[in-house]
Amino acid sequence: MKTDKKKVYLKVWGCQMNEADSELIRTILEHEGFLFDEDADSADIVLLNTCAVREHAVRKMRGAVYAIRHRRNGRPVLIGLLGCVPTHLKEDLLNDRNLKVDFIAGPDSYRRLPALIRQVQTPRKPASDLKEDKTEKYEGVVPKRQPGVNAWIPIMRGCDNFCTFCVVPYTRGRERSRPVKAILKEIRQAVQDKYLQITLLGQNVNSYRFDGCDFAGLLEKISTIKGLRRIRFISPHPKDFPDDLLKVMAAHDNICKHIHLPLQAGSTRILKLMNRSYSKTSYMKLIDNIRRVLPDVTLTSDIIVGFPTETDEEFLDTLSVMETERYDAAFIFKYSPRAGTLAAKKFKDDVPAAVKTERIVRLNQLQRQISLEKNSQRIGQTLEVLIESETSARSAQHYTARTDGNIVVIIPEGPYRTGDFIPVRITEATPHVLKGRPVSD
Ligand code: 5AD
Ligand code: SF4
Repeated sequence: MKTDKKKVYLKVWGCQMNEADSELIRTILEHEGFLFDEDADSADIVLLNTCAVREHAVRKMRGAVYAIRHRRNGRPVLIGLLGCVPTHLKEDLLNDRNLKVDFIAGPDSYRRLPALIRQVQTPRKPASDLKEDKTEKYEGVVPKRQPGVNAWIPIMRGCDNFCTFCVVPYTRGRERSRPVKAILKEIRQAVQDKYLQITLLGQNVNSYRFDGCDFAGLLEKISTIKGLRRIRFISPHPKDFPDDLLKVMAAHDNICKHIHLPLQAGSTRILKLMNRSYSKTSYMKLIDNIRRVLPDVTLTSDIIVGFPTETDEEFLDTLSVMETERYDAAFIFKYSPRAGTLAAKKFKDDVPAAVKTERIVRLNQLQRQISLEKNSQRIGQTLEVLIESETSARSAQHYTARTDGNIVVIIPEGPYRTGDFIPVRITEATPHVLKGRPVSD
C-alpha cells in the first residue's frame, strides 16, 4: 500500500536519558502522522539523537552522517540532529559545510519537532530549535517503549552540578524534577504493560525534589507499586547519598541492590578541580557505609583518566581506590575537553595522549581481573534471574537474563519466557557475563 506519510529513521547514541527521549520523540512524531522505518536507506527523514559528552561520540555521529549520505548516493533525505550535540555546538552545526544537516533540535524542543520538520520541507531551508525550557518535563507524552521487560522512567531532567569536565549542564539545561504523581502513574502503566524492571533516570537522582518529597521518599512510594518486581536507578552522586536512601533500599526486596557510584578520580586534589564536592576519604567511607547496610550490593563506577594536571601519583590514587573497593564493573574514559566547560576554559589538556592511553589500559586490565575474580566467586551459587530476551548476543540457542545486582547471565534456551524469574546455578564466569543453568534442569 502506498502512503504519503513520511518515513523516519531514528538512531540514538549516549546515555539512557537519550534512549528515553527517543521513546518520547517516537510518540510525538507518530501522533502527527509520521511512520517509523528501521532502514536509513529508505527513510525520508533521518534523525540522529546525539551525545556530546566526549569528542569520540561526536566523531561517531559525524561518521554516521557521512555514511548515510554516501549510501543514499544523491537520493534526497532530510537529516536532523537532536539532543546534546545541537545544544552544545548550536548554529555552527548548521553552518558546517561537510555535515550539511537540515535541522537541529535540543532536548527541550521535541514537542515542536513535527513543526520543525515541516518548516524545513517547505521551502528547504535549514532550521534550528535549541531553546532551553526549564518547565519542559514532557508530561502527558506517553513513551513508545521498546518491547521487553525494561522501562526507562525519567524522574528529572537537566543538571545543576557543574562538574568542571561535563557538558551536560550546558546541553540539557537546569535541573527539574517531575511530579511524584506523574511518575507513579507512569510506572503503574508500565507494570500493567508487563515492564517488570524499571530504571529511574536522572543526571543526579539524589537531587530529586518535588513538593517536599526527596529521592528516598519517591523510591519508597514506588516500591509499594503492586507487581513491580525490580527497581533500578542511575545515577546517584557520591556528594549527597543519604542514609535514608540506604534504609529504603534495604527495606524493600524489589529495589535492586546495585549502586552505580561514579568515582571519576581517586585524588582529592583532582576531585576538587573537578568540582565533585567529595574527597577520596569521604567517598571510601560512603562505600563502607553502603556495604554495612547492603552487604551483597553490586557496585559499579565511572572513572576519568588524564584530567588536566593529573600526575602519575594522583593516577595511582584512582588505582588504589579501585583495588580497595573492587567494583563489579567500571567504565573508564580518557578526559576529553568540552568547549564551554570550566575545565576547558581554565586548564590546558596537558596530559599527553600516550599517558592517557597507558593509564586507561592499566585501569581496564585491573578492572577486568577484579570483575573476573568477583564473577568466578559466583560459580556454584544459585541466583534468581529475570529473563530479558529469548536470544543472546552470540547465539539464538541461548537466552539473556540478569541478576538483581545487574549482572548478565546467559542460559540455554528452554521452556521459559521473557519476563520469567527463575533460579539459575552459575557454571561459568567471564569478566562481563556469567553463564548458568536453570536449577530445575
Ligand atoms: N571527558 C571524559 N569523560 C567524561 N565523562 C563526562 N564528561 C567527560 C569528559 N569531558 C564521563 C564521566 C561520566 C560519564 C557519563 O562520562 O565519567 O560519569
Ligand atoms: Fe551524552 Fe550526557 Fe547528553 Fe546523555 S546527557 S546524551 S551522556 S551528553
